[in-house]
Amino acid sequence: MIGINLAYILASVLFILGLKGLSHPRTAVRGNLTGALGMFIAIVATLLDKNIISFEYILLGAVLGSAAGAIFALKVKMTAMPQMVALFNGFGGAASVLVAGAVLSESIIKGGDPGTQFLVATAASGLIGAVTFWGSLVAFGKLQGIITESPVRYKGEQVVKVLLLLGALYAAYRTTQGQGDVQWYWMAGGVGSVLGILLTIPIGGADMPIVIALLNAYSGMAAAATGFVLNNSVLIISGALVGASGVFLTKIMCDAMNRSLPNVLFGGVGAVVETIKADDIYGGKVKATSPEEVAMLLKMARRVVFVPGYGMAVARAQTPVRILTEELEKDGIEVEFGIHPVAGRMPGHMNVLLAEENISYDKLKEMDSINDTFGNTDVVIVIGANDVVNPLARQSSGTPISGMPILNVDKARTVVVIKRSLAPGFAGIPNPLFALDNTLMLFDDARKAMENLVRAYREAA
Ligand code: TAP
Repeated sequence: MIGINLAYILASVLFILGLKGLSHPRTAVRGNLTGALGMFIAIVATLLDKNIISFEYILLGAVLGSAAGAIFALKVKMTAMPQMVALFNGFGGAASVLVAGAVLSESIIKGGDPGTQFLVATAASGLIGAVTFWGSLVAFGKLQGIITESPVRYKGEQVVKVLLLLGALYAAYRTTQGQGDVQWYWMAGGVGSVLGILLTIPIGGADMPIVIALLNAYSGMAAAATGFVLNNSVLIISGALVGASGVFLTKIMCDAMNRSLPNVLFGGVGAVVETIKADDIYGGKVKATSPEEVAMLLKMARRVVFVPGYGMAVARAQTPVRILTEELEKDGIEVEFGIHPVAGRMPGHMNVLLAEENISYDKLKEMDSINDTFGNTDVVIVIGANDVVNPLARQSSGTPISGMPILNVDKARTVVVIKRSLAPGFAGIPNPLFALDNTLMLFDDARKAMENLVRAYREAA
């Protein structure tokens, strides 16, 4: 037993070091491996536990689970990563519900006094796990386009949710009475499930990544509660780590969008106060350009900044971006990347894509550090980004992105925007940047446009 506990402590230390490593791109791969090693040690130590009855079922579960995980990891597109994370959070919640429920049934059959800690932890696992599972399924469905992305609202929804919450808490309380009550446990899980659905369904697709980070925190809390049910220290610690990091991630994303969490969860998300007409903004002011013209501008530039966005991810344009960077640097031009914290569809989306190309991390500048340099930048190339460079965000109200800090690309001498059309970005609003005097639009798929730009730059005298 002491050996197992020591192994659990070692695993927990590795989890913490792993998380620390994940905080910087340079150490992220090592951090991931450190965390995986911790998990391996935790699994081996758990398998050595004398309470295990059937290794066959565990092995079967491990093989099936690993195969499913590997297939998902290999098949899923980078752009579909948020919904995969949502689904996996949900499975974590469901596992907590099932494990805690099974242990409660076992304890009731055995008889005796299970103790208050056990009963309270069991009820918490069931309730939080159920909310997590169903909330995550709705988040998955919204991002996958199975359920409408628009907020689903109805009269009296807040009252319904409060009543459900009270009902779920009452059922959880009844679960903890006497030796524990398995029927009330499943009742708490059932009401928690409906609550999970109704809490997530009114939130618009645009806010789903924040909700997923929050559900991630819930899945950690459910796992930590299950750790108390099983008296398993490594599960308590790892659950607490997931819970805490999920809360921090939620906060970071809210800050990056200049939103409060209550506003995301209850605040009429997706309801645009004013309708801004695209024609009023673009009418006769948009100038299209060609790869050849942009290549000429680049030849004359001393400093160039790339601003990638969701379109670069969809088009998988990072390879020609890296090639053009190398070409420009060969000619002595300074190149940097402006990375907005919510560019793309998940935290760190752009960093991951650019790291795949081995683009040096030193060139990737966060919004706060690059914003002051746009004034002395000759050419900014915006690649499939839209909302994160939309000056309408500077208005204090009236748009879904009002108040969100943006990359001040409009301050550069020339802005080249690569996208296929004048279609809006995620927030669904037009972008006055496209109509500015110093903006040129290069209409094409981002990958094709970047490949053409590389060719034109090489050919330019
Ligand atoms: P968006 O504002 O969504 O704009 C992406 C643009 O890419 C679109 O306007 C689209 O225009 C263009 N595009 C799509 N496919 C393309 C292709 N194949 N080639 C070239 N362009 C293509 O992206 P963003 O600027 O990165 O902003 C991210 C948005 O997501 C923000 O509103 C943010 O709040 C939201 N969001 C992000 C996160 C995280 S954590 N990253 C979380 C929640 C919400 P065309 O159709 O005209 O090509």
